[in-house]
Amino acid sequence: MMKLHSVEVKTLTPEIFRMFQVNTALLTAGDEKHLNTMTIGWGQLGTLWNLPVCTVYVRPERYTYEFMEAQDTFSVSVLPDSARDIARLCGTRSGREVDKVSACNLTVCRGAGNTPFFEEAELVLVCRKLFVQDMDPACVRDERIFASYGEKGGWHRIYTGEVLEAYCKS
Ligand SMILES: Cc1cc2nc3c(=O)[nH]c(=O)nc-3n(C[C@H](O)[C@H](O)[C@H](O)COP(=O)(O)O)c2cc1C
Repeated sequence: MMKLHSVEVKTLTPEIFRMFQVNTALLTAGDEKHLNTMTIGWGQLGTLWNLPVCTVYVRPERYTYEFMEAQDTFSVSVLPDSARDIARLCGTRSGREVDKVSACNLTVCRGAGNTPFFEEAELVLVCRKLFVQDMDPACVRDERIFASYGEKGGWHRIYTGEVLEAYCKS
C-alpha cells in the first residue's frame, strides 16, 4: 500500500475543494492517550485572514465535540472510496460506546502538535483552531436550512482551523 507523504500546503490543487462533496472524511482530535474520530460530510477549504483554512461543523452531542473543545488541533483524514465501511461505522457509532480505531483497524499517525490522523486516508489535513463559533438560527436566510435540524440535536459548532500540514498518497 502506498504511504502517506508530506506535501506543501500551497501545492494542493483545486481538486481538493471537491473533497467534502465526493468523499467522506474522518474528523479526529485527541492527545497521546485518548482520541476520537467521526465521519464528516460538511466542510470547506479556502483562505481566511490570509491563511489556508479548513472549516468543519460539529454538533454538540457528538463525543468528538468534547475532543475538539479540549484540543488546539484537529485533523481531517479524507477516505478513499474503498473505505466506505469505515465511513459508515465512524458515522453511525459513537466513541462513547465503541473504540472506532480498533473496530476499523485504523493506523494512528501523528502530525503537528501530536495531532492524530490515519494512514488509511488518501489525503490528510492537520489544522490548528483559529476561530470557533456556534451556528445561530437567527442568522438563517434560507428556510431550507431548517430541514437539517429537528427537535433533537443542537446547531453545529463551527471550527475554522489553519491548515498546518497536508499529507497525501498521490
Ligand atoms: C456521511 C456522514 C456525514 C456526517 N457529517 C457530519 C458532520 O459534518 N458533522 C457532524 O456533527 N456529524 C456528522 N455526521 C454524524 C457523525 O459522524 C455521527 O453522529 C457519529 O456517530 C458521531 O460519533 P461520536 O459520538 O464518536 O463523535 C455524519 C455522518 C455521516 C454518516
